[in-house]
Amino acid sequence: MARLELTGEQRDAAYAAGNVLVRAGAGSGKTEVLAQRFVALLAGDIAGREPLAPERIAAITFTEKATADMRRRIVEVLDDRIAREGDAARRAALVRARRTLGLARISTIHAFCAGMLREYPIEAGVDPGFEVLDEYQSMTFLEGQCRDSIADAVRGEKPGAIRLVGARGLYGFTHQMGAIEVLLKLIGDAARLGRSHDWIRPSAETTAALLRAFGAEIPALRAQLIELVGKLLATRGIGGNAKQDLDALRVIWPGLRRAIEKFSADSEPSDLEALSALDAELPAKQNQTIKGMLAEIDEVIKNLCQSYGAYRAAPATLEVAALAADIAAELERRKREERVVTFDDLLIFANRLLHQHPEVALRYRRTLGALLVDEYQDTDPIQDGVVRLLTEHGAPAPELFVVGDEKQSIYRFRGADVTVFNRPREPLAILPRPLCENRRSLPAIVDFVNSVSAHSMRPDGDPDGKPYKVKWSEEHRLQAIRLAGDAPAVELIVGPNGQDADGAKRSARAARRIEADAIARHSAISRCCCAHSATSRSMRTPSRGPACRVIPSKVAAFTAARK
Ligand SMILES: Nc1ncnc2c1ncn2[C@@H]1O[C@H](COP(=O)(O)OP(=O)(O)OP(=O)(O)O)[C@@H](O)[C@H]1O
Ligand SMILES: [Mg+2]
Repeated sequence: MARLELTGEQRDAAYAAGNVLVRAGAGSGKTEVLAQRFVALLAGDIAGREPLAPERIAAITFTEKATADMRRRIVEVLDDRIAREGDAARRAALVRARRTLGLARISTIHAFCAGMLREYPIEAGVDPGFEVLDEYQSMTFLEGQCRDSIADAVRGEKPGAIRLVGARGLYGFTHQMGAIEVLLKLIGDAARLGRSHDWIRPSAETTAALLRAFGAEIPALRAQLIELVGKLLATRGIGGNAKQDLDALRVIWPGLRRAIEKFSADSEPSDLEALSALDAELPAKQNQTIKGMLAEIDEVIKNLCQSYGAYRAAPATLEVAALAADIAAELERRKREERVVTFDDLLIFANRLLHQHPEVALRYRRTLGALLVDEYQDTDPIQDGVVRLLTEHGAPAPELFVVGDEKQSIYRFRGADVTVFNRPREPLAILPRPLCENRRSLPAIVDFVNSVSAHSMRPDGDPDGKPYKVKWSEEHRLQAIRLAGDAPAVELIVGPNGQDADGAKRSARAARRIEADAIARHSAISRCCCAHSATSRSMRTPSRGPACRVIPSKVAAFTAARK
């Protein structure tokens, strides 16, 4: 008996001709379709295509676990295909492909890029014997080196280090990143833009010039504020509380006015007190006659503070950039010395290699017959760049087969960018009929996921803005194929709302902690669990009895008791 029969829609996707993008929901069979595509390419089952040898196919995804799953499925599909093949010659070819399957590039995108650097170390500018640091080792290495460099810079009285560590500490506080994280992010962002440490200083100078320009706006804003307050105080016929507030303001206005007239880009931060004092004395915006004037005054005060802040940020920008540039150069030196390549470097260097050495790109474009990518929603622009450099701009180029689900794009913190997945691209046909049947989960879970997605991803009436926002449409609705069981399928753990005991807003970090603790406690007694942060009070799911109930909460976790 066949290992698994593809449905019509899966078959259409797996055997579609040309470059294909399959966008479909969770558990709808995307990875299965990709594995079937891989074997169809080996077997020559795709119309108009000769069979491809394993070494001419690359199948990549993002985690080791997903890679292992993909590899296992490819092997299973191939074994099944061999068992079903009746023609002796074709069977022999498939058995040969099975024997040499190890030559196929079935790997994470990081390992795929590492392979290119090993093949072309000279062109890539890396030590031929480089050691790859995995994600955790890279983080430890970079944090350790950065901490040492910051300590040296503080001892050397470098202004950027003193300012940054003074303001944020080395490791940061609950609500803000520390000096190490800020600097590594800055250095990492520059590298991801393909820039070396030499670029950080001049680019900061451009930013500083823009920030300084805000200072020139202060005199006009100041004059506008004085004029608006003058007009407000001259307004007659105001009664009630507003009258009392205006009378009080009239008394202190001459002093405030003098202070505001003197306020300039070079004033001390304490001089901002005149603006706060004015703000505090303004009447509440209830009186219709002066409501518009008060809103204008608010706006001008806000602009004044922002212009002042931006102007004052210019020197700090230059100092911190100088520190970042020095540390970036030091990190490069240490990496060369220790002959290591960090996890991010693998992608950045491979991208640079293909970009700067078209002859290398051409060789891969010729030798690779097909490139398959799973979980494409997790791509960042650098990874997408590697795929594009290999597949765009006409022949020769491997055929591209991409699967993913924009609703599952969850690696923003690692740089994944869902706009990359959603961006229209020239060589890809987007399949008109996405897969919509879910075979993995019980109906109550599928219903629940449909409701949560439809609610939290509902379109906001702005079709063009926020390209990063995933918008729900009916084609995202999954249909459950498994039969409903009688045991509960979804359980909700409800946590406290978004405020702590004093009514203060709880930080996302604190809320995550509470959620993680609740899930950890609960998972000790349940078989598996997943979590979701419910952010709305109006969320509802279709009623499924006690198995599926949503309780409004800012922090809610639910467990899928039975998948
Ligand atoms: N035609 C089919 N018949 C039976 N089972 C199937 C079929 N297609 C997929 N499945 C099973 O459904 C489950 C989900 O499939 P798969 O993992 O390929 O989905 P996916 O879309 O890649 O999910 P995810 O979005 O989580 O990556 C797997 O257990 C798979 O074996
Ligand atoms: Mg999958």
